[in-house]
Amino acid sequence: MRSKIEQATDRILHLPIVLAVFAGISARATNFDEAKVGDYLLPNPLICADGSRVTNAATWLTKRRPEILELYRENIFGRSPDTGTNMTFNVWEMSTNALNGTAVRKQIEINFSGTPDGPLAHLLLYTPVGGNPAPVFLCLQFNGNYTASDDPAIAIFPGWNSKTSTLSMPKNPVRGQFAHNWKIADTIARGYGIAFIDYNDFEPDLPHGAGFDFGVRKNFSRPNEAGWGAIGAWAWGASGVLDYLATDKQVDSQRVILFGHSRLGKTALWAGAQDPRFAAVIANCSGEMGAAISRRDYGETVDDVTKHFPYWMAVNFQKYAHHWNELPVDAHFLISLIAPRPLFLNTGSEDRWGDPNGEFLAARAATPVYELFGKIGITETNFPPLDHALLHDIGFNCHTGKHDVLPSDWDKFLDFADAHFPHKY
Ligand code: GCU
Repeated sequence: MRSKIEQATDRILHLPIVLAVFAGISARATNFDEAKVGDYLLPNPLICADGSRVTNAATWLTKRRPEILELYRENIFGRSPDTGTNMTFNVWEMSTNALNGTAVRKQIEINFSGTPDGPLAHLLLYTPVGGNPAPVFLCLQFNGNYTASDDPAIAIFPGWNSKTSTLSMPKNPVRGQFAHNWKIADTIARGYGIAFIDYNDFEPDLPHGAGFDFGVRKNFSRPNEAGWGAIGAWAWGASGVLDYLATDKQVDSQRVILFGHSRLGKTALWAGAQDPRFAAVIANCSGEMGAAISRRDYGETVDDVTKHFPYWMAVNFQKYAHHWNELPVDAHFLISLIAPRPLFLNTGSEDRWGDPNGEFLAARAATPVYELFGKIGITETNFPPLDHALLHDIGFNCHTGKHDVLPSDWDKFLDFADAHFPHKY
């Protein structure tokens, strides 16, 4: 899923922890032993700030949900502005005969400010030919759209080099380099559209947050909204893309499913939490500050995120380093912000850094909120067998394998979508 450069960057980012541990410096070793997770007390999402208990969906929606959203804005991801009313969309390419005649392809330039030098994002959209407006998977991805498919018509744009922090045309672009992550043909065959956007278009993900100067936060921060992190910027961009999808007649904009992996899994959760127009969310290996319980000392921790990725988060998040128990929220709160909409959490047995069991426990802890709406969360007590997907309103799967999106995962994403958005195809 990640490019080689990004994977190498991750290894480099983890290196200081390893070195510090070997040097006997006071850095904590990462715990990968379930027996050593320790005790923690999870806050209850159903208890309001004034101590009263939420017992129905209406109180959740009008009182408790806004409180939790505010806690996330203040402490975790920061406050983002509304997406602009000045946005412009330019569908500059369209074919009704794409992917061997099965799909309509559109390439769209999204201009966030509507001015000639406004930040631009390049959206690629495939929808099935004929029929009704289609539900669409909106996929946040790490690379240019040409890496998602070998379709020769996909435009190649300059991309960011995270080593040099420069924007340039890719030297040896490989069309379809990450096509194995997506199963586009199957998605179209099952009656869904699929759209791709490179998150670097919203704000380039450069070391130490250097991308700020080139992205939407620089352009759209207003003083009272200072402090939104890069995850907020990427989530904001996703909502901007949804503004476009809502105008597209081939798209059923009531059924847009937002997908993201890893840091983009965290992004998908935050975008879905803030923007109820996303009808469903799939967060793949989202881990720490995504769907995994932060109070668990397993794999990546709050300390790791504050140290290595401060630019992802709100400025206030720093104060929770070494103080996880003081977080006013935890991952089950983030999940509960998506209720009652369908949410699928996919994890990997070898993704110990991402803490699959922490995600399972968060899904269980968010279940009472889904139940307020008569929805089914995770009622299973035990972690399900590997590769056995639970397809409830909160869906869960742990694939055999690493921190990645596997072809077999897409079969599960499609089954999950079919279960919640029945449609003809
Ligand atoms: C690092 C980081 C994770 C993140 C991942 C990614 O490993 O520690 O929190 O999910 O990068 O986005 O690939």
